[in-house]
Amino acid sequence: MKRETEARNSINCSRPSSAAPMPSAEPRHNMGSLAMDFPLQILLAVEKQGAVSSYEFARALNEPHQKIVGAIKSLESLGEVVAVKQTTQKTWECTEEGSSLATNGSHEARLFNSLTSEGCPIADIKANFPNANIALGAAMKNKWVKKEGEKIVPVVSSINDEVQIHLQAIMSGSAENVPDKIKVDYKKRKLIKEVDLTVFEVTKGSEFTTSVSKQEAELTKEMIESGQWKSKSFKPFNFKAKGRLEQRSGHLHPLMQLRSEFRQIFLEMGFTEMPTNNFVESAFWNFDALFQPQQHPARDAHDTFYVAEPEKTISVPEDYLQRVKKTHSTGGYGSLGYQYEWSRDEAHKNLLRTHTTAVSARMLYKLAQEGFRPVKFFSIDRVFRNETLDATHLAEFHQIEGVVADYNLSVKHLMGVIKGFFEKIGITKLRFKPAYNPYTEPSMEIFSYHEGLKKWVEVGNSGMFRPEMLRPMGVPENVTVAAWGLSLERPAMIMYGINNIRELVGSRVKMELILDNPVCTIDKFKGQSQKAADGAPTVESLTKRQELILDRLSALQSKVASIAAKMGVTLVESAASINTQLTGGVKAGVVHDVVIYADPRRPPYSLRILANALSSNFSVCLRVHCHSSVKEVSEKLQQFWGSSGATERSQSQICLTLVWRQDGDTPTALMPSLSVSPLAPNQIRGEHNVGRYLARLAEVGAPTCRLYECLSNPIFTVQVDELLDQCHGKLTLGNNKEKAGFIRELNSRLGDREFLVNSDLTLADAVILSTLLQLRMLESAPSNVQKWSKGCLVLPYCKNLI
Ligand code: PHE
Repeated sequence: MKRETEARNSINCSRPSSAAPMPSAEPRHNMGSLAMDFPLQILLAVEKQGAVSSYEFARALNEPHQKIVGAIKSLESLGEVVAVKQTTQKTWECTEEGSSLATNGSHEARLFNSLTSEGCPIADIKANFPNANIALGAAMKNKWVKKEGEKIVPVVSSINDEVQIHLQAIMSGSAENVPDKIKVDYKKRKLIKEVDLTVFEVTKGSEFTTSVSKQEAELTKEMIESGQWKSKSFKPFNFKAKGRLEQRSGHLHPLMQLRSEFRQIFLEMGFTEMPTNNFVESAFWNFDALFQPQQHPARDAHDTFYVAEPEKTISVPEDYLQRVKKTHSTGGYGSLGYQYEWSRDEAHKNLLRTHTTAVSARMLYKLAQEGFRPVKFFSIDRVFRNETLDATHLAEFHQIEGVVADYNLSVKHLMGVIKGFFEKIGITKLRFKPAYNPYTEPSMEIFSYHEGLKKWVEVGNSGMFRPEMLRPMGVPENVTVAAWGLSLERPAMIMYGINNIRELVGSRVKMELILDNPVCTIDKFKGQSQKAADGAPTVESLTKRQELILDRLSALQSKVASIAAKMGVTLVESAASINTQLTGGVKAGVVHDVVIYADPRRPPYSLRILANALSSNFSVCLRVHCHSSVKEVSEKLQQFWGSSGATERSQSQICLTLVWRQDGDTPTALMPSLSVSPLAPNQIRGEHNVGRYLARLAEVGAPTCRLYECLSNPIFTVQVDELLDQCHGKLTLGNNKEKAGFIRELNSRLGDREFLVNSDLTLADAVILSTLLQLRMLESAPSNVQKWSKGCLVLPYCKNLI
């Protein structure tokens, strides 16, 4: 029945006149300037009337109640200016249907308005008009329409839609203008409902005033200097403010991150860092000391940046200079030298060092002066070359250099130490190719097999320093020195997948690269033995495995994200929170801190089971905190860890801190999360993943603890993993159908078995049991699941779980 509404439609639907008068204290003329200053308006009203109710006030101003409540709270924070009392008051609110009728008119009015004077067949109305029966009944009862044969025809020319007026009055907070009988009727018709409203009554406080000065939020230097601070009033600290959930911390540039990793490797190998803080060097130390002839092309201004001011170095040790001069021009130490006229002038020229080997030369000279002792030195710092810039070359870059000086070292040692070094960074396939350097003999370029490129690529340069370099320094005759060097930028570009050096260094670098780049960790433990003496995996090897898995996960994540982006799909639960920086494990003398956040509505019981497992092998400190986002936590949750493991933090190896926090109602927010470092904002999310972390930790210390990765057969670990992922996907995140399906499968998998995997409690039992407890699904679970859960709950690790 889609007919034009007739023009006679004269429904009276003007908005009800403002129900309550303005509070008398409300100086109308002030409204212009004070319109937004609710706190002041409230104070003026209190002054005049003695008391102001938030509810009445909001209605009088026709403003949302919440806004007025906010203003009252800000007055309350001023101290004793006002006194505030809180009461609850019943009010009426429109239901969804009620609000729709308030806006569009009652069904009967809409029916009436749609009729022409000829009327409309009842059958048509019933077939096409929504809520036709209600509309017809009410319109007839109101005597707006009548039945004429098979038709409904209007009997009045205009109507007054009282239902709409009443509902509008209720919506605008003037329920008292609607007679009680009618309200009861509307409530029955589910158009309105009764609600509790917290109302604030404001009266004068002991320091009442209507001229409140703006409170200062900060104490400034100027206030202290001028003495103004004495008369100012300050905002009190809000200790209840919700802290920022994620903190941004400082970020190292990827190159510097990698530099610290290399530094760590050298330190682990017992090397000492050389002081490299002099970018300006003399040609003497950069070239001459290294037996590099003064005509060598590398010394050309096209390859080296010379310094104009100061052009020359002030001093070079004279006796050493004389020995260098002699070696270059006439030879010595069994060498013929280069047989040319050596120029002091050339050697005194200042330049930007072209390699860190200049520093190695200074250090070896110093060592010889002090009396030689075997040393292992390294440096990682910047060098400069006047090169043509391209995608892979800049005029400055970083060199990594290692120097080993000892009695009777040979090429064998050089190759050995280089192999050890590269193994530490995960490069095992090495080849050496004869090369030439003026200062080393023999010299070798180092090549490594690149699995990705499927070819051998040059990774560094090396050699044994020549006697022509060492002897003039005063290094004893039977001492030999092995050294090698490589650039820092090259591995950085490979690790971060950058093809153009300008994306890594210089003004075109994007800030996001620095803020968001993953920590590319060098594969330090590759090639090292994975097992401790008793056959149990070592902390390192477990951490290593975890890192590898996390790396793979993050690679997968970025793939998923890019596919999703291409398809325009938004990913709800981005697992981008996986931390790629989880290293450490349990070390002697260090408290291993683990912070777990959990929502009190979903207590992660499995973690208590794992804490028990940890406690039987480590001294564990267990703590519970409550974040300000959580108002109250039951006694039971405050004692979440139970009474065991009351070790002091300082005396413990592991400290588990549980923070009850409410971060929203999304599935992700309800999940527990774990962080191992306050500096790593990324966390491990989900009970299954947190469980994996703690289970690994528990297994590290205990050959008997076989919950997850130390199970007697690796197949079991795979099964546990599968169950954990299914539990997460179907039980934690799934809809009701998926949840029910999971429980059915669980029941049939269990059959008569005592445990889910193998013949003992595993992480799978712990996490699934915990999830069922949280969701209160155990009571209604089928019999095998019930039997299994009862069996688990009496085990030592699970005692007094709930
Ligand atoms: N200084 C060399 C370079 O700049 C590297 C190197 C260091 C070679 C030490 C041998 C020994 O490439």
